[in-house]
This record gives sequence, C-alpha cells and structure tokens, in this order.
Amino acid sequence: MQVFENISLKKYHTFGIDVKARYFVEYTSVDALKTFLKSGFLSEHKMLHIGGGSNLLFLNDYDGIILHSAIKGIELLGSDDNIVTVKVGAGVVWDDFVQYCVDNDWYGAENLSLIPGETGASAVQNIGAYGVEVKDLIETVYAVEGSSGDEVAFTNAECEYGYRESVFKGRLKGKFIVTSVVFKLSRQPEFKLSYQHLEAEVLKNGVVNLPNVRNTIIAVRQSKLPDPEVLGNAGSFFMNAVVPKSLFLDLQTLYPEMPHYYVSETEEKVPAGWLIDRCGWKGRRVGNAAVHDKQALVIVNCGGASGQEIADLSEQIRESVRSKFGIELVPEVNFVS
Ligand code: EPU
Repeated sequence: MQVFENISLKKYHTFGIDVKARYFVEYTSVDALKTFLKSGFLSEHKMLHIGGGSNLLFLNDYDGIILHSAIKGIELLGSDDNIVTVKVGAGVVWDDFVQYCVDNDWYGAENLSLIPGETGASAVQNIGAYGVEVKDLIETVYAVEGSSGDEVAFTNAECEYGYRESVFKGRLKGKFIVTSVVFKLSRQPEFKLSYQHLEAEVLKNGVVNLPNVRNTIIAVRQSKLPDPEVLGNAGSFFMNAVVPKSLFLDLQTLYPEMPHYYVSETEEKVPAGWLIDRCGWKGRRVGNAAVHDKQALVIVNCGGASGQEIADLSEQIRESVRSKFGIELVPEVNFVS
C-alpha cells in the first residue's frame, strides 16, 4: 500500500480549505487495512480516518496520517417479498447507494438523498434528514479495531445510536474503523413524508413514488444548502439544540413562533438555524467566512478562508445564541488540528 507524503487535502474535504497532510494512505480491502494497522507505522504518528470529509474543519496542516477507505461494493445478502439485506463498503459514496436503492425499488433510504459523504461515515455520524436517520436502516456495522486489527460486527443496538450520535463517535471514539455496513430495506412501498411540507412538495411534482420522492428531496436540499463545489461548507455546522423543558417553556413565552420538536417529557429540540437566524446572522460575512443566506445553520467558505477564520465565526455565533437564548450550541462539524 502506498503512503503519500505532503498531500493537499483540498479535494478530500468539503470546506475547500487549503491544508496539507503529512501522510495520506488509502486502502481498498479489509485485509489491506489490517496489514497497514500491523505495520507499526501508526504507533509513530497521530491518525485521522476520513470519509467524504463533509463534516470536518481543518484548523491547520495535519501533522499525521490521514487514512481513507476505498472499500467499494454493494453485495446482496438476502431478499424475500418484504425485506432486502445488503452489505455496502465503507468507501461507497452515500448518495450512490441511495440511487442504487431507488433504481432497485428498495424503500427506506430515499429521504437521505444527496447527503454528502460516504457509507462508513454515515454509520458513525448517524446522518439524518426529512424524518429519517440512517440508524433506522442499519442492521450491522462491521469495523476493524485499531489496536488488534480484528474485525468486529456491531448490532444496531451495540452502535448506541442517538441524534447524530453513535458508539463510534462516543465511548469508542478513535478505536474502530468502519469497513462495511449492512442495511435492511423494504421491498414494499413505505414512505415517510410527514416532515414539514414534504408530502405537499412531492405531490406538486407528481405521484408518490421512489424517483419522485428522491428528486423532490434533492430539489429541496439544493434550494437551501450550498453546493460544496461552488461554496465550501460542511452542511449543518451545529446540531439542533436539545434543551430542558423548563428553559424551552420560558423561551416559548418570549418567542411563541419558535419551531420545536418533542424529544421526551423533560427535553425539547429547538432548531439551531432558527436561533442563529434570530440573532441576525443569516447572510453575514466576516472576512472570508459567512453564514449562508438561505440557511443560517450553514457556514460557508467564501473563498480563501482559513479553518481558524471559520472556527472564529462559529464561536461568535455561539456567543450570540448563548447570550440571547441561554442555549449552548454544539458543533456537528469535527474540528481537526
Ligand atoms: N430555520 C430558520 N432560519 C434558518 C434555518 C432554519 O428560521 O436560517 C427554521 C426553519 O424555518 C424550520 C426550522 O428552523 O422551522 C428547521 O429548519 P430545517 O427544516 O431547514 O431543518 P434544520 O433543523 O435546519 C435539519 C438537519 C439537516 C437536514 C434537515 C432536513 C440538523 C443539525 N440538521 O436541519 O441536516 O437536512 O433537518 O431534515 O439536524 C446536515 O446534517 O448537514 C444537514 C443538512
């Protein structure tokens, strides 16, 4: 396996920041990964495993090894009249897999159309959109343990999924590398269209079927979220805020129009985009970084921004939201230094 040195990371992440990695290694099979892990190279350097780089903010050059999976392939494991089970390589581009599901009349993944990134990272991040989270489709996650090189199968329950959370981001952070994911999809029509005005949007474009739902979701995303090829960004910069019910009720008295989603008897979720928008940030530019003018949850690189510039803007936004609403925003983006 080839180890590349002093590689520009610009095309390996979606913020488009011009940083370099000291080493860059890509592997195409589980065996190649195991061999690399046993080579001892890792014990001498820090390591970051990346997917499509759609959730990363590099603060400076990375003085270590960037590891990337090029494990491809979509393998049919089983199928009956109702359910299909497929194993997908961690390096498969997420939206290519969604397209594959739609082409094969498999239901379940279509609401997650056009989310950037790769399949391995989708299972780490528990990506979600329009009322669906990827955990709803996952049966098993295969991952290699960095220290032993052993491959372990995690059941859905063992992945400890929550909102943008998993055991791979939490308790076992940095310990496992996801190699493939087994998904369960429905062969019978099953749609989830209750998110905001989604059903009405779908019906505007035609009947409710897989291609129409996928195309509608793509159109909605494209109308709100900037294309990273044009304007560097990492999608939602912050997670939506989960706040104690008492704070939520106090805020609701002051802002009756505040959107919110039920979480539990004791907690409520408030959209970070709404909070940031109400602080007046939408469309504001600071140096080469800006808050997107169509969705306040997204920070964009207007061209030539450094990672630090984007981090500084995110801190200013957090401070505004903290002082206006008493809410601590948590970045969804991972800061790398
Ligand atoms: N809102 C505003 N101003 C804004 C943005 C949003 O007032 O600038 C309000 C909207 O009017 C709406 C509410 O906030 O009432 C929620 O907005 P939206 O439906 O656009 O979704 P979101 O909560 O901002 C989440 C995910 C997105 C996902 C969408 C659609 C998170 C952090 N983000 O955004 O995920 O696409 O729902 O389901 O949960 C991503 O993770 O990168 C991502 C784009």
